[in-house]
Amino acid sequence: MSLFARRPPASAEDYRAAARARMPRFAFDFIDGGAGTEAGLARNRAAFADALLMPRALVNTDAPADTARAFLGRAWRLPFGIPPIGLAGIAWPGVDRILAAAAERHGVPYVASTPATDTLEALKAAAPRSGMFQLYVGRSEEITDDLVTRAEAAGYEDLVVTVDVPRPGKRLRDVRNGFALPLRPGPRMVLDLLTHPAWSLAMARHGAPRFANLERYAAPGAGARSLAELMAGQSSGRLDWALVGDLRRRWKGRLVLKGILAPEDAARAAAEGADAVMVSNHGGRQLDAAPAPLAALPAVRAAVGPDFPLALDGGVRSGEDMLKALEAGADFVFLGRPFLFAVAARGAAGAEALFALLAAELESALAQTGRTGL
Ligand SMILES: Cc1cc2nc3c(=O)[nH]c(=O)nc-3n(C[C@H](O)[C@H](O)[C@H](O)COP(=O)(O)O)c2cc1C
Repeated sequence: MSLFARRPPASAEDYRAAARARMPRFAFDFIDGGAGTEAGLARNRAAFADALLMPRALVNTDAPADTARAFLGRAWRLPFGIPPIGLAGIAWPGVDRILAAAAERHGVPYVASTPATDTLEALKAAAPRSGMFQLYVGRSEEITDDLVTRAEAAGYEDLVVTVDVPRPGKRLRDVRNGFALPLRPGPRMVLDLLTHPAWSLAMARHGAPRFANLERYAAPGAGARSLAELMAGQSSGRLDWALVGDLRRRWKGRLVLKGILAPEDAARAAAEGADAVMVSNHGGRQLDAAPAPLAALPAVRAAVGPDFPLALDGGVRSGEDMLKALEAGADFVFLGRPFLFAVAARGAAGAEALFALLAAELESALAQTGRTGL
């Protein structure tokens, strides 16, 4: 190994490159990719690239900036969190728990996904204060109901209902790579695995990632295929405002709707009693033609008024991006892929380093825009 190989990545984008080198292509593409032509994915980033921040001079910013932020009734140490990631274990073994624990340590939210590769119970234990649960309302009423019951029993106070998956997104990279569950490696995938030995050995030692929340609902003795089918049924077009109303009546804690871009939908969410909305296009993984969340945000903010809690995700990659989102009307942001890539590149140390990097970038952006805090 060269002397330079261990130089720490200097940005979220560097972690992406480091993860790309370490992961087989099909696994990297599953995380990195978007729907359709990926124009939507590119728009998420372009919106941030086009947004500017005005530098402000001659403000004494010598003291460390106050980066604390209130969101959903709690004070967080930083204005960003980790959103729900299904099948995260494809990045690196144990990544769900690594990220839950890191979020807890740094005092930021961690959202456990319905198709997580660890159980919602274990993830709440790893993030007792930070943990929130993301619900996919699937085809089966019984499973949806049981997931909510389990989330209550595990002590979750925040239910994040994802509303932008009425159909699975069509991700062409996965189709072209032959990435489907169960994995049936053809010659190209075998070569992919052999040429990424660190990842392949780690997976071999740990076992392939599993849908830890859902496997109990598969018929006893059912194989991987039926689990994959069960997973496919975990999002559905049956979720509508009536079901949101039911969930609102049932869930005693805070209810968040994730995946809203239309101002009318955001206003309706507030009227239906949601405690917050996450303005999101699922990281460009659902409707290719969806607007970038950063571009959609001002109209959403105008529709819900100044006080309704709004979070944003999709394309946030730096401290400056966080400020851009906050200036456009967000109260809070989430970063998905960067945390997966950090762990894929360097394990738990990668998550730690990414937290430090993002916090330092945020501090710098605050100082350069003449702010002593958020
Ligand atoms: C690999 C992967 C899996 C995801 N799984 C889920 C999920 O299970 N539930 C959900 O609500 N969103 C899911 N998302 C969307 C993220 O929560 C988040 O909205 C998105 O990653 C934000 O965009 P960013 O990656 O550009 O930061 C997933 C995203 C990725 C990249």
